[in-house]
Amino acid sequence: MPLNALPRGTGDAASGKEQPIAGPKFASRFGFIMAATGSAVGLGNIWRFPFVAGENGGGAFLLPYVMAVVLLGLPVMIIEIRAGSGTGRGVVGAFQAASKRAAPFGLLIAGASLLLLSYYLVVTGWAIGYLVHGVADQRPGFDTFTSGANSVWFFLAAVALTTGIVVLGVNKGIELSSLFLMPALVVILLGLAVYGMTLPGRGEALRFFLAPDFAALSDPAVWIRAFGQAFFSVGVGMGVLITYGSYLPRGTDVTKSSIVVAAADTSIAILAGLVVFPLAFSFGSSPGAGPGLAFDTLPQAFDSFGAPTGYFVGVLFYAALSVAAITSAVSLLETAVVSIGDAFRLRRAIGLGLVITALLLLGLPSALSYSGNGLQVLGRPFLDLADTLVGTLWLPIGVLVTVIVLGWLYRRDGGESSDTSRLNRLIAWSVQWLVPSAIVAVLGAMLLDLLRHRIVPHGG
Ligand code: PHE
Repeated sequence: MPLNALPRGTGDAASGKEQPIAGPKFASRFGFIMAATGSAVGLGNIWRFPFVAGENGGGAFLLPYVMAVVLLGLPVMIIEIRAGSGTGRGVVGAFQAASKRAAPFGLLIAGASLLLLSYYLVVTGWAIGYLVHGVADQRPGFDTFTSGANSVWFFLAAVALTTGIVVLGVNKGIELSSLFLMPALVVILLGLAVYGMTLPGRGEALRFFLAPDFAALSDPAVWIRAFGQAFFSVGVGMGVLITYGSYLPRGTDVTKSSIVVAAADTSIAILAGLVVFPLAFSFGSSPGAGPGLAFDTLPQAFDSFGAPTGYFVGVLFYAALSVAAITSAVSLLETAVVSIGDAFRLRRAIGLGLVITALLLLGLPSALSYSGNGLQVLGRPFLDLADTLVGTLWLPIGVLVTVIVLGWLYRRDGGESSDTSRLNRLIAWSVQWLVPSAIVAVLGAMLLDLLRHRIVPHGG
């Protein structure tokens, strides 16, 4: 297939001669920031961050997490957006501009983003399902909710909503929806956090979430979780920021915009913790509930608050979760569509059709694994397996591939500031040395852990 036959315009980037492809652009810098924040802020912030922080030292987790965002996540964000805006192309085209041999790796990243999206939309479907049930004044437990075909139907609803936004295009779909939905999300979460601060469990919640357990910092596993969570949350290594970077309006300062997006992403994660923990503690439940926190513990908490408070708080919470998830799913879908179009020179509508077909094929097993059918693979629900594969194992590799291709092979300053400025040298140093070393260390530790459990299965 003509991976190396992109339309003219993406020449040899290393020589600095290529002109970015003219394509759709966000109407304003603010539109870009809202769309990129929409991509970054997702299930990772509201559903995952609170329980991961809770399990890893509470307040002490914030330190490695923020360090990972600033030192590792942010520089990768910046080079992804620069590569997108420099070439005007998505991950496949931008990788090809770096080196002809890199294009297949771009396609691999796009494939991973599609697999991520396939089960991300199942969880998005749960959020929508709980919103719909909540509006109808029902707050099912997770087992009840997933005992029938809910996961499948709401997965299909999530696919339809996400596709609808992508079909409307970059400006009328992605940009416009983010311009409305992101501010709405912040207002809802702020409101819920203020409410949380009136609840009896707030003291315990704040202590659990914010009081640092510094002993946790000496545990390498905490750092590994922090790195993984940071990459997942800012959304690097999946080609998404390259795609959105290709829609960057001319003359936008990439570094400043990235800092705003990373700061918004981190603030919203912390805000989500300030919402979730007071609710959980006031209901008297253990916040160590892990992944079940948002879909099992909280519905019971809302129920216990009684009408009408529980009703409104529940509806608002799942509205926020749905909004956050959909804007992230949109960015992953757009990335897959652009990548497959670039790789195989397909019209957008055809690319979209193919991606949706693949999405249904990959997503249905995940949805079925949390339904009456209970589909298991290797003794685990299919969704959990897909999450381990992409969310845990692949993500650091995807970031590593990205920094090798963009940090070493494709180097441009994005036209925003001179290549030799101190900040740019720092960014280059991070993506060329710091990020790869951190990832190799993490992968090494993961491998060691795996071997140890294989060899000594019962702890040891
Ligand atoms: N950052 C999103 C979240 O926190 C997930 C995501 C990952 C989106 C990678 C795009 C790319 O939920």
